[in-house]
Amino acid sequence: MRLPTSLGGLLFLMSLLAQIHCEDVFGIAGENFTFPVKINQKIAEIIWTKNKDKVAEWEGQNETTYFDPLKNRGFLSKENGSLTIFNLENSDGGTYVLDYMDSLEKMSPASYFLCWLPLQNLK
Ligand SMILES: *[C@@H]1O[C@H](CO)[C@@H](O)[C@H](O)[C@H]1NC(C)=O
Ligand SMILES: *[C@@H]1O[C@H](CO)[C@@H](O)[C@H](O)[C@H]1NC(C)=O
Ligand SMILES: *[C@@H]1O[C@H](CO)[C@@H](O)[C@H](O)[C@H]1NC(C)=O
Repeated sequence: MRLPTSLGGLLFLMSLLAQIHCEDVFGIAGENFTFPVKINQKIAEIIWTKNKDKVAEWEGQNETTYFDPLKNRGFLSKENGSLTIFNLENSDGGTYVLDYMDSLEKMSPASYFLCWLPLQNLK
């Protein structure tokens, strides 16, 4: 992995410093869910974390890397940065953060905080 520690440290620091605005989003277990984010700039690098653990990463060149628990269940859009989780499980609930860098201002990562709350499938 190429992520320089200085960038990792910066992202971590930014996450600590950023006023955590958490937007609640809801999904239903058993269904597919796409986080409602849309980045309009050209994206250079995308990292999605769940409860501070990396779940998906795209560094601009190679294929997207998905980590547990999204291995085989995730899809990251390189066009708009949105993350899709297939076949939601209740354990998918958590705080998801999207960090990305646009291709012009490499050193100004931006973050989205999404608190995903699982809903039971009321069948
Ligand atoms: C979820 O997405 C997969 C792959 O696109 C599709 O095969 C499946 O039918 C979808 N499931 C639901 C519940 O929409
Ligand atoms: C991208 O993949 C190629 C071939 O798998 C590898 O040689 C290269 O080091 C990778 N680049 C990065 C930035 O991970
Ligand atoms: C983002 O792009 C994906 C395809 O790459 C699409 O399925 C999704 O609807 C898009 N999201 C938004 C908010 O436009």
